[in-house]
Amino acid sequence: MIIAIDGTLASGKGTIAKRLSAWYGLPHMDTGRLYRATGVAAKHQGVSFEDADTLADVARSLDLNDYTEEELRTAGAGQAASKVAAIPQVRAALLELQRAFANQAKGAVLDGRDIGTVVCPNADVKLWVDASVEARAERRLKELTSKGDTLSLSEMIAQLKERDTRDKTRKDAPMVAAADAVLIDTTHLTIDAAVDKARDAVEAAIARNS
Ligand code: DC
Repeated sequence: MIIAIDGTLASGKGTIAKRLSAWYGLPHMDTGRLYRATGVAAKHQGVSFEDADTLADVARSLDLNDYTEEELRTAGAGQAASKVAAIPQVRAALLELQRAFANQAKGAVLDGRDIGTVVCPNADVKLWVDASVEARAERRLKELTSKGDTLSLSEMIAQLKERDTRDKTRKDAPMVAAADAVLIDTTHLTIDAAVDKARDAVEAAIARNS
């Protein structure tokens, strides 16, 4: 079974993905880490964000073990990720890696922005997770403040809007809900309630396929 989870930043998609992965015993890939690591590696190596071919080489030669979770979760890494993610050569370089992970015999849970539309268009279950920009900014701020970053709520809202716009308007694999995705709006939901809704969608798919 392949579970494809897409949605906006800080919508809760990552938590839902981890919980479904544990519940169904499926391996999980957070595909945003691939783009974050590519952005961080490019910065370390002094590669220009205009140099598409070299950025694709950086993406192809990634070793995720080179990066700590802390390094990849900073606001700067997120901005860099969003920029390299708009480059078709980088997306192509990361596509096979994601497909190979999805197609392992056991199945898999993948979360990102284009899993249901591009990476796994034939996924058994597709979820689209979203929340209001204010709710997402508050969540993200809590996460970053605990790591020592300081930003105001209005700065965070502006950053999220900028990221959303870049992700939605890029030409290659823009962030969009697949036509057959189940929508989960987590604005007013607890994590447990959101995970319950996600599990209901998976159970419905299992029942349909059996
Ligand atoms: O989910 P995240 O914040 O870790 O993602 C970081 C950036 O990577 C985000 O701005 C969009 C991009 N991304 C993407 O374009 N496609 C994916 N499948 C996953 C992430």
